[in-house]
Amino acid sequence: MRTPVIAGNWKLYKTAGQALELVGGLLPLVAQTKGVEIVVAPVFTVLGKVAEALAGSNIHLSAQDCFWEEEGAFTGEISSTMLIDAGCSHVIIGHSERRQFFGETDATVNKKIKAAIKAGLTVLFCIGETLQEREGDQTFDVLRRQVTQGLRDLSQEQLKKVIIAYEPVWAIGTGKTATDSQAQEAHQFIRGVIAGLYDKDAAEEMRILYGGSVKPENIGGLMAQADIDGALVGGASLKADSFAAIAKLGK
Ligand code: G3H
Repeated sequence: MRTPVIAGNWKLYKTAGQALELVGGLLPLVAQTKGVEIVVAPVFTVLGKVAEALAGSNIHLSAQDCFWEEEGAFTGEISSTMLIDAGCSHVIIGHSERRQFFGETDATVNKKIKAAIKAGLTVLFCIGETLQEREGDQTFDVLRRQVTQGLRDLSQEQLKKVIIAYEPVWAIGTGKTATDSQAQEAHQFIRGVIAGLYDKDAAEEMRILYGGSVKPENIGGLMAQADIDGALVGGASLKADSFAAIAKLGK
């Protein structure tokens, strides 16, 4: 059985005060929620403060990106070991906004994933096709390429530290969720790619999250799909009540 994951990506929102207010509201709402790995990913500058607020709770802390070198003359970057030092257990890598606006490629994503796992972080590895790619019938080719190149040279043991987040770019922040069956079809395909790259056990163990306009109203339908193991939530993770409702998996 795969433990579901509900992760909130706060993107470029929430100053320290706002972040602490959100976490303060969220903690009591999910304190009794069991059997779900709950994760929040604030901006770098508030990680330490949020880590203190989450200490001893059932909410894990994630960063939204990291660099592949541990230290050195790399102005503006943050390493995986520094994220652990700040209290993180997870890191998002390869989000489509990083690929789209900050030149992230499958090769840089692969370097970052390897460095993060080496440091001891669990990686939320994002993949997904654009609208143009979907309309051009390239969805499966894109997903296969992103998975294969992103996970290049990772051992089966290292793969245990990876959670895949399938986020069709056309569904992010648009209010346009993939239908349950569109999402399931992609998740099933991704699981098949993992089986081909590793084996059936690795594929069965892999948590594959859906991301793109997830809300309390649609999480139940998504979670009812055989290959959907949770969600990476953007907008709806910025409010304690909506994120808590999603973390309860629509039950
Ligand atoms: O990382 C989260 C995704 O980009 C989804 O964002 O829920 O606002 O569509 P959204």
